Amino acid sequence: MDTRAVYGDAAAVPVGSRTGSRSYHYEPVDPRTRTPVVGMVGAGQLARMTHQAAVALGQSLRVLAAAPDEPAALVSPDVTLGAHTDLAVLRAFAAGCDAVTFDHEHVPTEHLRALVADGFAVHPGPDALVHAQDKLMMRHRLAELEIPVPPFSAVTAVTDVLRFGAEHGWPCVLKAARGGYDGRGVWMLTTPSEAQRVVPELLDTVGAPLLVEQCVAMRRELVALVARSPFGQGAAWPIVQSVQRDGICVQVLAPAPGLDPELAESAEKLALRVAGELGVVGVLAVELFETRHGLLVNELAMRPHNGGHWTIEGAVTSQFEQHLRAVLDYPLGATAAHAPVAVMANVLGADTAPAMGLDERLHHLMARFPGVKVHLYGKAERPRRKIGHVTVLGEELAPVRRDAGLAAQWLANAVWADGREVHG
Ligand SMILES: Nc1ncnc2c1ncn2[C@@H]1O[C@H](COP(=O)(O)OP(=O)(O)OP(=O)(O)O)[C@@H](O)[C@H]1O
Ligand SMILES: [Mg+2]
Repeated sequence: MDTRAVYGDAAAVPVGSRTGSRSYHYEPVDPRTRTPVVGMVGAGQLARMTHQAAVALGQSLRVLAAAPDEPAALVSPDVTLGAHTDLAVLRAFAAGCDAVTFDHEHVPTEHLRALVADGFAVHPGPDALVHAQDKLMMRHRLAELEIPVPPFSAVTAVTDVLRFGAEHGWPCVLKAARGGYDGRGVWMLTTPSEAQRVVPELLDTVGAPLLVEQCVAMRRELVALVARSPFGQGAAWPIVQSVQRDGICVQVLAPAPGLDPELAESAEKLALRVAGELGVVGVLAVELFETRHGLLVNELAMRPHNGGHWTIEGAVTSQFEQHLRAVLDYPLGATAAHAPVAVMANVLGADTAPAMGLDERLHHLMARFPGVKVHLYGKAERPRRKIGHVTVLGEELAPVRRDAGLAAQWLANAVWADGREVHG
């Protein structure tokens, strides 16, 4: 079987070619199971699915949740309630963890440095993670490494945007350097007068540095998903296409259909190189724009990523298990795909939640599509909120994509988009 052995940064060790290196003279922390404890800061769906992978490895994920009804807090038996912005809370949470890792990017960098100074194993470490936390620092660092990024500039006054637009053309994309997700923190500026109207207010209200970048004329968006362990092992999954609508991912097509094999290889190498150069430990998702002139890096995420949910059913090792393996410095798992095509579709909350309950929708879905795999996150339905996803595997893209789209839209809206009657 092709294990997709990998290469990339100079020190990378391929999957399947390392034996144990970790020392086992310490007592694993969980006295009941004698297995290691990974603590994940944040208890959203990424932590929920990481817990699912932890269970198979004999572990329970410890999660730091802001509220008891968050997706991972509903399923993990080891929940700390508290704020990820409170250093005392983080310290108490980290005590007894073999590794501390993250389901989001929002822990203040100085708190992470304090945890490292205390001797906690924080993966990815603050010097790496800051490039996923701060889009401006990420752009500067990647540009320094001569990795292609869209033209960009820091913004401290509206004149910075006007000057950038005059040089690079309109529209421009304004972004908050920190704190954004799912398109929140991204504003398209169509004209200089729109910039004049909008930017001063954003400078006052966003509470994070801003940057402006060229609106890239792209063919499509791709995600290169890799993992790196402290030992230096690297692993890469096939390059996927992420289909975005209004700044939010709606579908992921694995592998990216019709992608030039050379471009795929260069995307994979690029992501492994970024992981090595930045010292990432864990999963790294590199969001890419495919343009006529090649690839540009949009964004980095150093955790399991929406672009990798398909790996739960679609690959030998899921991104969630791989993240655990990496942060615990276990040997990494094979990343080969199980089927020629996998499509993941997000279930995005409808504008008005349907009268039919989610459980009844699930029942209907199962009756129509026995091959569709459903993941619900235990979240309340709100407009455009990611409340779950579905994955379909198959031989050919068109039917697989159609079924995944129908299933996700059904779960969100209680309407079959192909016109099928509900009780037909
Ligand atoms: N420079 C650009 N040119 C064109 N489109 C862009 C540009 N930057 C961002 N976009 C669009 O906006 C989407 C969201 O941007 P970005 O990934 O930077 O923000 P985000 O809200 O942090 O995303 P995420 O949900 O991945 O954390 C991108 O996936 C892309 O569709
Ligand atoms: Mg993004």
